[in-house]
Amino acid sequence: MTISEVSVGTGSSARPANQGTTDPALRAWVKEIAAITQPADIVWCDGSIAEADHLTKLLVTEGKLIRLNPEWRPNSYLARTDPKDVARVEDRTFICSTYEEDAGPTNNWRDPKQMRAELREVFTGSMRGRTMYVVPFSMGPLGGPISQLGVEITDSPYVVLNMGIMTRMGDRVYRMIEDGDAWVRTVHSVGYELVDADGFPRDDLDWPCNDTKYIVQFPDSREVWSYGSGYGGNALLAKKCFALRIASVMARDEGWLAEHMLLIKITSPEGKSYHVAAAFPSACGKTNLAMLRPTIPGWKVETIGDDIAWLRPGSDGRLWAINPEAGFFGVAPGTGKSTNQTAVDTLWGNTIFTNVALRDDGDVWWEGLTDTPPAHLIDWQGKDWTPDSGRPAAHPNSRFTVSAAQCPSIADDWESTDGVPIDAILFGGRRATNVPLVAQARSWKHGVFMGATISSEKTAAAEGTVGELRRDPFAMLPFCGYNMADYWAHWVKMGRTLGTKAPQIFQVNWFRKGADGSFLWPGFGENARVLEWIVARIEGTVAGENTAVGVVPAEGELNLDGLELAPGATQQLFAVDKASWRAECDLTEEYFDQFNGRVPAALLAELASLRYHLKD
Ligand code: GTP
Ligand code: SPV
Ligand code: MN
Repeated sequence: MTISEVSVGTGSSARPANQGTTDPALRAWVKEIAAITQPADIVWCDGSIAEADHLTKLLVTEGKLIRLNPEWRPNSYLARTDPKDVARVEDRTFICSTYEEDAGPTNNWRDPKQMRAELREVFTGSMRGRTMYVVPFSMGPLGGPISQLGVEITDSPYVVLNMGIMTRMGDRVYRMIEDGDAWVRTVHSVGYELVDADGFPRDDLDWPCNDTKYIVQFPDSREVWSYGSGYGGNALLAKKCFALRIASVMARDEGWLAEHMLLIKITSPEGKSYHVAAAFPSACGKTNLAMLRPTIPGWKVETIGDDIAWLRPGSDGRLWAINPEAGFFGVAPGTGKSTNQTAVDTLWGNTIFTNVALRDDGDVWWEGLTDTPPAHLIDWQGKDWTPDSGRPAAHPNSRFTVSAAQCPSIADDWESTDGVPIDAILFGGRRATNVPLVAQARSWKHGVFMGATISSEKTAAAEGTVGELRRDPFAMLPFCGYNMADYWAHWVKMGRTLGTKAPQIFQVNWFRKGADGSFLWPGFGENARVLEWIVARIEGTVAGENTAVGVVPAEGELNLDGLELAPGATQQLFAVDKASWRAECDLTEEYFDQFNGRVPAALLAELASLRYHLKD
């Protein structure tokens, strides 16, 4: 079989085919993948506007994207997925390190040899009848000292369009690869071939995918193979698969950190700026904090990143961070005027929406966008919907894909190649009980212990039971590419490297509930009050109050001016119930026990210290 190479941007086969790159290794790899997957043709993407425009038109013509009313939402589109392909699939996510203990008890390990054989089988002919796209991208500004290159091969034009927003994608990356820069190999197929082995064609689906899914990382050879899903982190391989699972392994080997963290720049009324990184599990408020509008006068928060941070000690000894992404793949539900006006403003146009509802006027809607739902909608599954339908109009994990540059609160230094110096690191999660609104770690090691012991209620971002409490250390449970205990040791070591220049560490919890089940803290813009206290701690202008679980605001230190909390809420937000914390310590000990002696001694010492502090 011969495979023709065509260029999408030219729009017509009369123009010479874009050969992409002269790099022999990249060409050989593309040829090798094409030999396995057997596509009808190969497109070397160049990242041009013409290319994106062509792919968009193609998807609209095929009925795979709905063009929104340009009066309301210019250059914006809606995609509806297969109802069985709506979130990350953690039980089909595999870490294939040579040795099982290097994946650790929190990852699904598979023998790399066996997995390669299995993948060979499912990928054989998986692109028959389809176009194979070669997508070159940079994570982080091109050529920056913390940035990394990658290439994704995919048979999904929807993925190409999303990668174009989420990464710096384009033919300049081919030139850098030709000049010898290292790059990571990632392969993706939706797993729905259009021609069978005997050459018989079948019709395409609006959202092609496969019931059998594989999200596979080979950390030793730094490769990703993904099969069967077109959705988010399963398919946009630069994101979780590369920038977290593979990058965390690179970071361990090279002395840096790849984290599930937002990045913000905070400016005080005095005009002093601080940079903060915060790790919260999926759908626990990173995008919201990244775009926070302070309710307290004089404070400003600007956005650098909303999901992933790469952090590295700089020549000045401080920790410097970049956002390796170029766009936001954000949760739609709960994004509205009162919660995240900045996100709403960011989404004015040039946005791909996935699994939200369609309004009769050709615009989009989701739960929380407005207080009153429209009288009639087409829901995320394409069915008629009215407010009394008794089901959500948008899928709880419906998302928007939009360029970060379009965000009105984007910081001036968001694309700084050297990154920004980090003053504070926050860990958080959804905890209805026990965990205070804010507590500062007594030391770096105590901070690592806080991160390592984060638990959070499960959200719709992954398949499974929503609301169930689970351990999600550093918000990295589904994203750490190696043994979690070794990852903690790497963090402890980073503290030694940074010494006195290490950022301060805090734990926050916006989600504590009162006896009646309602949130004790208003959250969103009011979270600026917590940031204000954190800055005061960095400056040393407040003393705080020592508790068993860390330093919390002393009476009067948290700015509550103009805020009306329920009676007793402040006391409940900071209550440390010793008995339930002791029970939590027992669970932590059990949790640590599964790591077969690999948990760093520093964390065992922190657990012992916490138990000591919790004695009556
Ligand atoms: P991923 O993209 O999955 O990594 O999620 P994320 O951490 O960026 O989560 P996001 O900011 O999109 O928030 C998810 C949900 O949490 C939304 O429904 C928000 O409305 C809600 N949320 C965010 N911040 C707060 C808060 O301060 N208080 C409360 N009660 N809810 C919040
Ligand atoms: C998350 O689940 O943490 C996300 C969305 O950021 S996804 O890209 O689908 O992983
Ligand atoms: Mn995320």
